[in-house]
Amino acid sequence: MKQNHNYSKDPQTIQTMFNLIAGKYDMINNVMSFKTQNYIKYKSIKNLNIKPHNNVIDLCCGTGDLAIFVKEIQPEANVVGIDFSEKMLEIANNKNSSNKIQYLQGDVTNLPYADDTFDFVVMGFGLRNILNAEKAVDEAYRILKPGGCFMHLDFGTHNFLSKIYDIITPISIRFFTENAAAYSYLIESKKQFPEPNDLIKDFKNKGFKLKGKTDYLFGVISAQTLVK
Ligand SMILES: C[S@@+](CC[C@H](N)C(=O)[O-])C[C@H]1O[C@@H](n2cnc3c(N)ncnc32)[C@H](O)[C@@H]1O
Repeated sequence: MKQNHNYSKDPQTIQTMFNLIAGKYDMINNVMSFKTQNYIKYKSIKNLNIKPHNNVIDLCCGTGDLAIFVKEIQPEANVVGIDFSEKMLEIANNKNSSNKIQYLQGDVTNLPYADDTFDFVVMGFGLRNILNAEKAVDEAYRILKPGGCFMHLDFGTHNFLSKIYDIITPISIRFFTENAAAYSYLIESKKQFPEPNDLIKDFKNKGFKLKGKTDYLFGVISAQTLVK
């Protein structure tokens, strides 16, 4: 998985960064996505057609959005979220008062699950932050049941709109947070992350078969769905 980054993706640094920005993460995401992120996340989960009693895991769940939408759309699913930032998980758990979702702290490059455990693995805006992204994809593949589905959601093609987005967001973010450095990192990591078609090639090299690709905001955000 080719990523030419000139900033640190050391897991400790990434974990500390997300712990620092956790309190404002949801609010800033709404600013950065012009309030579209919830709709996009909801739609990308809805499209999966998750059935009652399916086992679903949200990798790099952060403050829990994807896991929450799984439970909202399919209340009978068993839903787990995993992330290594305890502060992000704290926010996720605050939204989980009835404990319907099981959150745990852990590293997605080394998952505490047996092979063939889950019907769905979902990951939103996570892979881009992982130094050993290949290992995370291997783990997603390993814990999926044969025929199970991996949904990866992140920024998409580096098109004209996406470039405008890269210019506008750091400016608007400055109004909302003193931790602008963390968000410069996020924009930088977005620019250097492979485009969806290259990612799909990488996923196929890991054994996945492509099921579909959905573009949001004219391709600025993209969801890829793959089958084991
Ligand atoms: C940009 S946030 C995405 C959060 C959420 N999925 C969303 O869509 O809003 C990336 C998350 O990945 C987590 N993360 C990064 N590397 C990780 C790793 N190796 N293991 C577990 N979590 C990781 C961070 O702690 C952070 O919460």
